[in-house]
Amino acid sequence: MIGMGESKKQVGVLGLGRMGAALAGALLGAGHDVVVWNRSPLKAGPLLDRGARLAATPAEAASADVVISCLSTYDSQQAVLEAASPKVLVNLTSGTPAQARDAAAWASSAGVDYVDGVIMAVPQGIGTAQSRILYSGSASVFSAQREVLSVLGEPVFLGEDAGLAALYDLALLGIMWSTMAGYLHALALVGTEGVEPSTFTPMALSWLSAVGGFLPGIGAQVASGDYATDVSALDINAAGLGLLVETSRAQGIGFSVPAAVRELFDRAVAAGHGAHAIASVIEEIR
Ligand SMILES: NC(=O)c1ccc[n+]([C@@H]2O[C@H](COP(=O)([O-])OP(=O)(O)OC[C@H]3O[C@@H](n4cnc5c(N)ncnc54)[C@H](OP(=O)(O)O)[C@@H]3O)[C@@H](O)[C@H]2O)c1
Repeated sequence: MIGMGESKKQVGVLGLGRMGAALAGALLGAGHDVVVWNRSPLKAGPLLDRGARLAATPAEAASADVVISCLSTYDSQQAVLEAASPKVLVNLTSGTPAQARDAAAWASSAGVDYVDGVIMAVPQGIGTAQSRILYSGSASVFSAQREVLSVLGEPVFLGEDAGLAALYDLALLGIMWSTMAGYLHALALVGTEGVEPSTFTPMALSWLSAVGGFLPGIGAQVASGDYATDVSALDINAAGLGLLVETSRAQGIGFSVPAAVRELFDRAVAAGHGAHAIASVIEEIR
């Protein structure tokens, strides 16, 4: 709830999909005056029951002090934003850095105060300690809206380049997607011998936590360009990947996940990094 010294704001929310509805719900829960717009107005029902007002048009919602947009894509939202013409816009629709920069340029030409954001949470996490939202673009717009944005999740400002939040988003999601693909491959592999996910997952979790512990060291090697190692050389890891591909094939499952990594590691070995640390693989990526 809004506490002493905090002010109740009029917040417009454009888009009431799974995420937009969660954002509007958290703002209502914190005591803000929320006006919502969605292409399919019936989705607003549960929020109206909690005190939100329904706008008939994007422009009606955009008369609020600040507008938060959360539609499926930048392509789907541009016409909505142009019709809305808000004073202050916090754009939480996912996209590429280039799309975020284009949106910031459009906002600047349209006289709209703009900050871009990406949500590192699922809708159920919005408004809880599990929610973090990364922002980039205008520092002054971010500072002015920080209090209301804190309701949605921990706000982290990355810098004045509007594309930065989208860049971080895709980088972090890339870690998540490759980790999940590796986990699914592992489940398929142990599953060939009847091992249940519930048996394997605790071991996978403690292993992931150990692997996470390697990241600062890898990052430091990437930053310095010094790939010397007395721990584990790339050629040993490339050979291990060969064993994983061979075993996956022998057990009758697909091997596209480890084969993609093996192809990358093999290229790094061929380029002369066999005796170097795994961090040297970045030379084959960038
Ligand atoms: N869900 C998550 O876990 C999650 C996590 C982080 C970030 N995000 C991001 O949040 C954004 C919204 O995701 P979501 O999960 O809420 O998606 P969703 O449930 O599919 O909702 C999509 C929203 O976009 C609207 N929309 C789509 N095309 C439109 C158009 N042409 N004109 C007007 N409105 C249009 C939909 O309106 P209708 O209701 O009328 O169809 C709906 O409000 C996405 O960019 C997503 O990447 C989602």
